[in-house]
Amino acid sequence: MEKYFFTYEDIHRTSLDLSRRVRASGFEPDVIVAIGSGGFIPARIMRTFLGKPILAVGVAYYDSDDRPSDLPRKVQWIEEAEKKLQGRRILLVDEVDDSRTTLEYCIRELLRHKPAEIAVAVLHNKLKFKRGSIPPEVKRYFAGREIEDRWVSYPWDAQDIGAHMASAAAALQG
Ligand code: G4P
Ligand code: MG
Repeated sequence: MEKYFFTYEDIHRTSLDLSRRVRASGFEPDVIVAIGSGGFIPARIMRTFLGKPILAVGVAYYDSDDRPSDLPRKVQWIEEAEKKLQGRRILLVDEVDDSRTTLEYCIRELLRHKPAEIAVAVLHNKLKFKRGSIPPEVKRYFAGREIEDRWVSYPWDAQDIGAHMASAAAALQG
């Protein structure tokens, strides 16, 4: 099946659109929490429009002996999280909602710190069966684009950005 190829410009425009929709919903985040590493670039672009600080978290699917695991674990987390997150409005940002496992894990971990609210923004939501679920505490979920269950090639993964841009342009020609 064809992959999706998104350019930095696509990502920027989608991040702007997401930021506008977050604002329009009446949600004013105090802090953006970026899920690394895919969430870093969209979070940074959204910061341009929302003007809020970014905290980063990272999870991995291998255990301390480097064995693959089905469950995520924290590899990087917010220091002094209680102080920074309690009573705050968090906008949790990632690039893609795929199986939803990472998102669910991060939301559950963040909820332990008693934020006022958590909203979720992802660039792309794959329309497919989800292993994870968005906890009911999350009332606002924004997806920049709803897409088919195909692999997304992001510009930051490109070894050859020229070839990536050419593939993105070719896909547009259809
Ligand atoms: P989810 O909760 O957000 O759905 O994430 P899930 O655990 O299903 O995703 C596991 C990893 O696979 C994540 O990366 C996610 O970004 C990546 N992934 C899923 N679908 C795609 C895709 O179509 N294209 C690309 N490029 N990545 C995809 P990760 O392990 O957190 O690593 P990182 O790349 O974000 O550092
Ligand atoms: Mg990711």
